[in-house]
Amino acid sequence: MKILVKVPATTANLGPGFDALGLALDLWNEAEFIATDDRQIRLTISGEGEGKLPTDADNPIVDAALKIYDLAKKPCTGLRIHCLNRVPISSGLGSSSTALLTGMLGANALLGSPFTDEEILKLAIETEGHPDNVAPAMLGGLVASIVYEGRVISLKLPARANRSPVHVTIVLPDFDFPTKQARAILPKQVERKDAIYNISRAVLVTEALRTGDLDLLGKAMTDALHQPYRLPLIPGAQAAMEAAHHAGAAAVALSGAGPSLIAFSAKQEPAVGQAMKRAFESAGLSARIFELGTSYEGAEVSII
Ligand code: HSE
Repeated sequence: MKILVKVPATTANLGPGFDALGLALDLWNEAEFIATDDRQIRLTISGEGEGKLPTDADNPIVDAALKIYDLAKKPCTGLRIHCLNRVPISSGLGSSSTALLTGMLGANALLGSPFTDEEILKLAIETEGHPDNVAPAMLGGLVASIVYEGRVISLKLPARANRSPVHVTIVLPDFDFPTKQARAILPKQVERKDAIYNISRAVLVTEALRTGDLDLLGKAMTDALHQPYRLPLIPGAQAAMEAAHHAGAAAVALSGAGPSLIAFSAKQEPAVGQAMKRAFESAGLSARIFELGTSYEGAEVSII
């Protein structure tokens, strides 16, 4: 039996929704799982991260898969996993969440699904430490999460049927900005005015994305809790944001913890990506452009 797992990239925060909002993107990692009885775990990777990511037990997909075997109290007699990665690693596009969910969903399917999707999502969120990438990767679409009595509640917000299309341009500079570092530099306390700034905008960002109101998105997609601290540490990021606006983007934000930026527009606007890329290049960084749609679908598991 071969299991195919597909998990989408995600963008978290969406400006003011720090650690709470996330959106699935139409860029997918795929992995095939086969259970073997040779006592070996073999993982191969093609695409993003090939030659860079570990292929042994340190690989996060293997680690997540073995966690499921452990929790199900089932021995792992051997595994063969082949990954086709399209989501760039350490980019702000949720690659670590795709890995976690891929490993957990693949192992769960091989074991005959001892855990429900809800249990897998809970486990993945606990492992990641914040829900805003894992939840939209699992559920698809725009997802808001809260912590209620110690447990995370994640809700997929239905897109309005007649919503205008939203086009996304991601520009990823070649800059090492690990999430751990990007979180460590944030202040532990925030001022009330900054909290109000974000709460009010986060509500309108969700509404703007649900309805496709890019004018409202442009007004609401700003932030006082993380971007002011992170953007100055990424060379060219502030200039790239301004360049995106000048080139016609309706709204721009740091994607997750960065280093990529995400720009929203009503249609594909190649000038937006090019302008952002040039701004990063002026700061000495090469950059890659991804023109994407959003995905209303989340992770998929099939038997092939
Ligand atoms: N909400 C997280 C952060 C996303 O901004 O640190 C990182 O993956």
